[in-house]
This record gives sequence, structure tokens and C-alpha cells, in this order.
Amino acid sequence: MNNHSIKTIDFYFFSGTGNTLLVVKKMKEVFENNRIVVNLFHLEKTDPRKIDTNHTIGLAVPVAEQGTFPLVWDFVKNMPQANETAVFMVDTMLAFSGGIVGPIRKILKPKGYKPIGAKEICMPNNLFPRKIDEEKNKEKVRKGLIRAEKYAEDIISGRSRWRRIPILSDFMGYFSKADWAWKSLRKHYKLAVDESKCIQCGLCESLCPVGNITMNDYPNYRIILSRSGQVISNMPRRLTHYYPEFQGKCTICMRCLSFCPKKAIARIKTKHEIYRAVNVKELID
Ligand SMILES: Cc1cc2nc3c(=O)[nH]c(=O)nc-3n(C[C@H](O)[C@H](O)[C@H](O)COP(=O)(O)O)c2cc1C
Ligand code: SF4
Ligand code: SF4
Repeated sequence: MNNHSIKTIDFYFFSGTGNTLLVVKKMKEVFENNRIVVNLFHLEKTDPRKIDTNHTIGLAVPVAEQGTFPLVWDFVKNMPQANETAVFMVDTMLAFSGGIVGPIRKILKPKGYKPIGAKEICMPNNLFPRKIDEEKNKEKVRKGLIRAEKYAEDIISGRSRWRRIPILSDFMGYFSKADWAWKSLRKHYKLAVDESKCIQCGLCESLCPVGNITMNDYPNYRIILSRSGQVISNMPRRLTHYYPEFQGKCTICMRCLSFCPKKAIARIKTKHEIYRAVNVKELID
């Protein structure tokens, strides 16, 4: 079989710190070089019930807790019924998942989707790294993007596969779907804002995919980013106690701490470095 009939791909992605987005961009490049139209959508800003099942669907997400984030599970569960719509997935991870490829297939196949490919790609660790070795990370990204390129070519030629993965993967996937597991992770990875560093720009609030960060209301306030991703805001000099507050629903995606321009958000328990793979503009545009 080959998939030369693919004309348009709607590619839904979520990326905390940019690894997954880099993979998506590489795959998009390959598809477009083969005259396939690719539409990118931020998964966290899309109503899954309204996706267009006349197009081939791509899903790209990070691995979290051997599975993926609850927002991704909710998206997949709420995708509409389909009539043989081709779907492929790609995830990025540090080293190991086990609970994502099989379980996503198991949700989508009975809905009428045709699973045409699944691939897991190793990228640098973004989960509170203690130390960052820039050279090793660069090499990992380089290899990851080669795999992404090859995977996109395989999708086009029909060589890609999304095989059923039995029993163990359902077991592994269980943790990343369980509320209790995320509650305990939230405690373990509790975040705090250092108000002496915070410049009250509000970027963290805009980045959070689950609305976990709120700033005090401030009328006429708007974030503006420069071309290089520097925060410029139109907020007048501070008038109130205007700092981020966490609402207890963090999904530990790492965005706010990674992209805070002043590194004002950090884990309470241990020291860690900041990892980010893209310009912040690419995650909110
Ligand atoms: C909360 C959390 C849990 C993670 N769990 C895993 C895991 O179980 N296995 C793994 O290999 N990587 C794990 N990682 C690492 C990420 O999957 C990896 O760095 C990924 O490429 C990040 O993608 P992003 O930059 O698009 O967010 C985890 C990262 C986070 C933030
Ligand atoms: S992104 Fe950083 S500096 Fe800006 S409001 Fe949030 S914590 Fe403060
Ligand atoms: S508060 Fe949690 S979910 Fe929101 S951006 Fe920060 S790490 Fe991600």
C-alpha cells in the first residue's frame, strides 16, 4: 500500500518546551516538499469535536509519565467518529514510553480511523534537568530530526505502520490517565514564583495550556512579543500586586518555567536548569 493519495494533513500538536514542535516542523517540510498541504493546529486550542475528518490527521505530543498529558488524552477521546480517516501519530520523549502508542490506537480505531503510522522519537530531557549538556542535546536533536524526516517519508510512501501493542501498554498508559497520579506529581513538582525576579509580564499566563496561572485582572493589558521573542507589554508601571497565581491544576508541561524571561518560576524542592528548544513566539502564535 502507499499513501500517495494524501493531499491535506491537519497536524495537531502539543509541545511544552519545543521538542515536539521541532519534529512537527521537520515533518511538515518533508510533506510540503511532496506537495502535500499541511495545516498546523495547537492541540490545546482546538475543539477536537470540530476537526475535519476529510483530511488526514496527524497527532504530535510529548511523552509524560510513560503515557502523555491528560489534555492530550481528552483531545483524543473527544475526536469525532470517522469513516476510514487516515491518522498518524508521533511522540517525543527522553528515553521510554510504553503507554501511549497502543492506547491511542485503541481509542481511535473503534471510532473509524485508519491508523497509518506511529513513531517515537528521542529528544533532550525537559523535565527539571539538573544539568544541561548543550553538545549532547544538539546531537540528540540532530538524530531526532533525521528520524522525523525518515518517518514523514515513510508515511508518504506507505511504509509506516501503527501496530497494535498488547496488554502491557494499557497498563503503562493507565498512570498518565489517572487523576490521582497527576495530583501526586503536582505535589512532587510544586512550582513557585520568585516575586523579586518577576517583571509581571503575564507571559506565563498566556502560555499555560490548562489555565493554571492567573494574574490579577488588569484592564487594557496585552502581551506583545518582539520578533526575537522578547516580551514587550503595554502595561503601565506596576500599580497592584500583579503576580502569577497557581490554581492547582498544573499538568507539568514545563512551559511557564522554561519561557519565563526572568526565570522567576521554579520547582520548590530542588534546583534545576531551564530547557527550551524553540523561540517562545512559535508556541503562542
Ligand atoms: C511531566 C513530564 C513527564 C515526562 N515523562 C517522560 C517519560 O515517562 N518518558 C520519557 O522518555 N520522557 C519523559 N519526559 C520527557 C519529555 O517527554 C521529552 O523531553 C519531550 O521531548 C518534551 O517535549 P516538548 O519539548 O515538546 O514538551 C517527561 C517530561 C515531562 C515534562
Ligand atoms: S513569565 Fe515570568 S516574569 Fe512574566 S509574569 Fe510570569 S513569572 Fe513573572
Ligand atoms: S503552570 Fe503547569 S501546566 Fe501551566 S504552563 Fe506551568 S508547568 Fe505548564
